[in-house]
Amino acid sequence: MSRLTFEGVGRNFGPVVAVRDFDLTVDQGESVVLLGPSGCGKTTTLRMVAGFERPTWGRIAIGSRTVAGPDVFVQPNQRDVGVVFQSYALWPHMTVAENVGFGLSVRRRRVKGRRSGNVSGRVETALEQVQLPGLGKRYPHELSGGQQQRVALARALITRPRVLLLDEPLSNLDTRLREDMRLEIRRLQREFKITMIYITHDRTEALALADRIVTLNKGQIQQVGPPEHLYRVPHSRFVALSLGPANFLPGVVHTAGHSPTVRLDTGQLIKATADAGAADQQGETVTVCVRPPDLVPRPLDGPMDAWSGLVRDAVYLGDEVHYLIDVPALPEPVRVVDRGENTLQRGTRVALEVRENTASVLVDGAATSLPRGLATVGT
Ligand SMILES: Nc1ncnc2c1ncn2[C@@H]1O[C@H](COP(=O)(O)OP(=O)(O)O)[C@@H](O)[C@H]1O
Ligand SMILES: [Mg+2]
Repeated sequence: MSRLTFEGVGRNFGPVVAVRDFDLTVDQGESVVLLGPSGCGKTTTLRMVAGFERPTWGRIAIGSRTVAGPDVFVQPNQRDVGVVFQSYALWPHMTVAENVGFGLSVRRRRVKGRRSGNVSGRVETALEQVQLPGLGKRYPHELSGGQQQRVALARALITRPRVLLLDEPLSNLDTRLREDMRLEIRRLQREFKITMIYITHDRTEALALADRIVTLNKGQIQQVGPPEHLYRVPHSRFVALSLGPANFLPGVVHTAGHSPTVRLDTGQLIKATADAGAADQQGETVTVCVRPPDLVPRPLDGPMDAWSGLVRDAVYLGDEVHYLIDVPALPEPVRVVDRGENTLQRGTRVALEVRENTASVLVDGAATSLPRGLATVGT
C-alpha cells in the first residue's frame, strides 16, 4: 500500500469545472472518505486516480511515482489500483472464483516473474476475507446483492493494490446489509492497512468509515478532518449539515480564542469551540452550531424568556424523540433530539439549555447556501 498525493488537481468538461484546486495527501494505510452531494465531483476525482480520466490541471502521485500530470499519464492497468463500483460489474458467465481470480491471472501474465503464489489458494483466501468461503463455484446470479458486492471487493483486494478506490459501493444494498458491509470494509481496511478512498453521499457511511472525511461542494474541498472534528467543529453550514442535522444560532463573541465564550442573541452566555478564524475578535458577530442532541428541553412553569419556546412538533422514534421548537427570538425553529422518557406534548412551553462543551463557532458564519436536500430536518 502506498500514499496518494493530489497537487492542484482539476478537471473540466467543456465549460463545467467538475473538480478544482484539489490538494490532498492520503497516507499509507489511511481511509479517506469523499463526502458530498450528487454532482460535486467525487466520481471524477476517483476516476482520475484510477486513470479513467485525465486531469486538466495538477498532478497525482501514487507513492513516489507521478501517475498523472503535465506530460505524464500512466495507463489504468499500470497503476496498481483496485476499484469497486456501485454496480458490481461481475462477469455473469464466470464463476465467483473465476471472477475473483481474473484480475490476478491478468496481472501474472503482465508482470512476468512476480510471484503471486497459487491462484486458487489466493482466491479462496480472498473469499474468506470477505466472508464467502466455499462459494467459489457459484455464478453471480446465484448470489444475493450483498454477496455479489463482497465478490467485487475480493476481486479488487486479491491483487493487493497500492490504493483501493470505492465509489458508492453500498448504494444498491438494503439498510441492514449496508451496515454489515460498512463494518466489514472498515475491518478489512484496518487489518490490511489499506490506503483507501471511499466515496459516498451518506454521512453515516462517511462517519463510520473514515480516518478523515473530505467534504466536497461544487468540485471544491470545503473542509478536511477526522469525523469527530468535522461533526463537532464544522467551518460552515454546508459542512455542518453534511455531517448531520444542526441548529445555527446567532451570537456575539464575548471572549475570543479557541475556547471562546459567546453571548447568544437569545441572551445566554455559552462556552464554545472555535478553529482559527472563527472567533478571533471580541464583539464579532458569529454563528454558533449546536447539534440537536446537545439541546436539553425542560418544561417551563414560569414566564417565557428569550430562550424559551413552544413545542411545535414532536416525533416519537423509540430511542429518541425529535422536536421542533419555536423560539420567538430566533428566525428558524430549533431542532432538539431528546432521549425522551416523557414525550413533551405539542404546545408545551420549554426552556432550552445548551449542553456543556458541545457548541462550536462557524468560520464561515455568513454562508447561507445549504446543501440541497440537507436543509430539512434530518434524523
Ligand atoms: N464525461 C463527462 N462529461 C461531461 N460532464 C461530466 C462528465 N463526467 C462528469 N461530468 C460533470 O461533472 C460534475 C461532477 O460529476 P461527478 O464527478 O460524477 O459527481 P459525483 O460523483 O459527485 O456525483 C457534474 O456536473 C457532471 O455532470
Ligand atoms: Mg458519482
